[in-house]
Amino acid sequence: MCMGYERRCVFFKMSGDSAQMFNPADKVAKISHCSSMEQYRKMHEKSLKDPEGFWSEIAKDFHFEENGLGQFLDYNFDVRKGKIYTKWMAGSKTNISYNCLDRHVLAGKGDQVAFHWEGNDPADAEIVTYSDLMKDVCRMSNVLKSKGVSKGDRVAIYMPMIKELVVAMLAVARIGAVHSIVFGGYSAGSLADRMLDAEASALITTDAVWRGSKLIPLKEIADDALKICRAKNTNIKVNIVVKHISRVTAPQSAANGAANGNPAKKTHFDDTGNFKVGWDDKVDVWWHDVVKDVSSECPPVWMDAEDPLFMLYTSGSTGKPKGVLHTVGGYMLYAATTFKYSFDYHPGDIYFCTADIGWITGHTYVTYGPLLNNATSVLFEGVPTYPHSGRFWEIIEKYKVSKFYTAPTAIRTLMKYGDEPVKKYDLSSLAVLGSVGEPINPEAWLWYYRVVGDSNVSIVDTFWQTETGGHVITPLPGATPAKPGSACFPFFGVDVALLDEEGREIKGEGEGYLVFRQPWPGIMRTVYGNHERFETTYFKKFPGFYCTGDGAKRDKDGYIWVTGRIDDMLNVSGHLLSTAQVESSMVEHEHVAEAAVVARPHNVKGECLHCFVTLTQGADFTDKLVSELKVKVRSTIGPFATPDYIQLAPGLPKTRSGKIMRRVLRKIAAGERDFGDISTLADPSVVEVLFEHRPNDK
Ligand code: WTA
Repeated sequence: MCMGYERRCVFFKMSGDSAQMFNPADKVAKISHCSSMEQYRKMHEKSLKDPEGFWSEIAKDFHFEENGLGQFLDYNFDVRKGKIYTKWMAGSKTNISYNCLDRHVLAGKGDQVAFHWEGNDPADAEIVTYSDLMKDVCRMSNVLKSKGVSKGDRVAIYMPMIKELVVAMLAVARIGAVHSIVFGGYSAGSLADRMLDAEASALITTDAVWRGSKLIPLKEIADDALKICRAKNTNIKVNIVVKHISRVTAPQSAANGAANGNPAKKTHFDDTGNFKVGWDDKVDVWWHDVVKDVSSECPPVWMDAEDPLFMLYTSGSTGKPKGVLHTVGGYMLYAATTFKYSFDYHPGDIYFCTADIGWITGHTYVTYGPLLNNATSVLFEGVPTYPHSGRFWEIIEKYKVSKFYTAPTAIRTLMKYGDEPVKKYDLSSLAVLGSVGEPINPEAWLWYYRVVGDSNVSIVDTFWQTETGGHVITPLPGATPAKPGSACFPFFGVDVALLDEEGREIKGEGEGYLVFRQPWPGIMRTVYGNHERFETTYFKKFPGFYCTGDGAKRDKDGYIWVTGRIDDMLNVSGHLLSTAQVESSMVEHEHVAEAAVVARPHNVKGECLHCFVTLTQGADFTDKLVSELKVKVRSTIGPFATPDYIQLAPGLPKTRSGKIMRRVLRKIAAGERDFGDISTLADPSVVEVLFEHRPNDK
């Protein structure tokens, strides 16, 4: 039975159980919270057998205002027994913003640096202490309250990686509202869809940001999104706008302006160099204006541990994104604990996660995990290759970063520049290097270890999902001997199983669907506004289990190797996209009758989009059409979804019942001919025709 994940193994030539092992770095193991496999196994076993005993001990470090730890755990994971639900500490009262800020300030840690903000341009930097952050958060909480935002309301956030983004999330959480952050690379249409689905009552955005040398006019995009919302009779109460672009250094190309042909300079700045924004007095207010006269104190709203904290949209296989909903208490425990153990955090560490807060990695491991642990982090606005390809390494040297967390796609991009840009900097402060977002190919793993880590670090390949809230399979850097390409073993509270197509459990060595048997505190609670979709997507295929949608194999030593998505989902540079989302955007073009999109291996992005399009009668497949389709996808979804390859498909490989056989398309996209059994195709000759039209690797 084809499960669709063989493509990953072929591409990355995963070496499975024959892989080399790398022991934890001595300097990490010596001081580690968990310093042996024996200790890991004991703790893991306790976390499964006695979740209450295990997690309530951890919960003691946090502030709960009322009702102790409530009813500790209650759940149903089996659709045959009724509604799926998970509740941790229901009835107890807490607030995550209080636990991230007040708790540390009250303990005398107010002067400690929470964030070293590092701008897109190396000339821009700022220090934010815990007490600064707390005051800023309280001010914004007071502003939100004064604008009518209250407990349970949804607030959309569309911002770059600046301090105010962290302030906004914590301010929303402080008053019990629910944040819904939309990544600043999404289009107006995608932002509008998410605001409409969440019925957001307020928006927080920014005038614009430089990402490398590119200007992203966020407010302009947000204005277009608000227009779409208005056309659907949905109005927000307030749009709070951070004035940012004028306080940072513009890239050289923009400073030279039109002379250098930088179109941003011509269209977005007036003659005196001011950034131009549209303004609607009914909703728009400047952040700096509204925070001026409000108090820097704001008592937190005490929330039930099971009240919603945030929602974050992730791609769904039907095309419509799902609002993954996390609640306050369980997420708090899980974000804090995974951060502490996976990165082996200790006071004095300087931690740097390069993920954008617009994705789950930024939620859990830029904002909540580090702040809950009273950590000091780098918050980076820019991109890895601007103004030069040593930017990450320059930052690591500057702040003496000890724990660093990035994505395989960034590692592969930087590998292309060779070792020299890395070796220019002193990276001896590094102790733990993390990877997230997609399987890391052993070649990139080894480069990360040897060149960046100087063979004196522990590498943690952390597997998790928006839905899981935090790491679910990961090495522990002081305990686990790592195998390059394997995420190793389950985190505390996570009970892994592999199932075959019929739902039978595969014990020992083998390969199958990656599922989890019982809830850990960070698991999502529902899909916002659609609990049935939550049950169908994650719990119906294998009753009694949470189904990740990924395939995995277990080797003879028990190591887990996640092999990639087995549903109709793509992972481009660590960003999940559904094929349906891209297809439905393409078929909106008048000359496209049908479109099928699959993943094609890409040596930097991991996967890229390869699209097969069938045209309407009389239409021609031209370069113009190809570029129109690329623009279409960019504008409906966002630039990161732009297809790399679009090819003509006079016909598509369909079964007699009309279902497109995507595994055949994936093979064609990859340039491979071992199709397996294609006897169920209505017209097998279509395969050769598609091969003739296949664009070569760029
Ligand atoms: C993939 C990102 C292999 C996987 C935190 C998962 C990984 C999806 C890894 C979730 C990893 C993430 N090894 N695959 N270490 N980390 N994935 O929701 O397919 O953006 O289901 O969360 O990314 O993506 P999401």
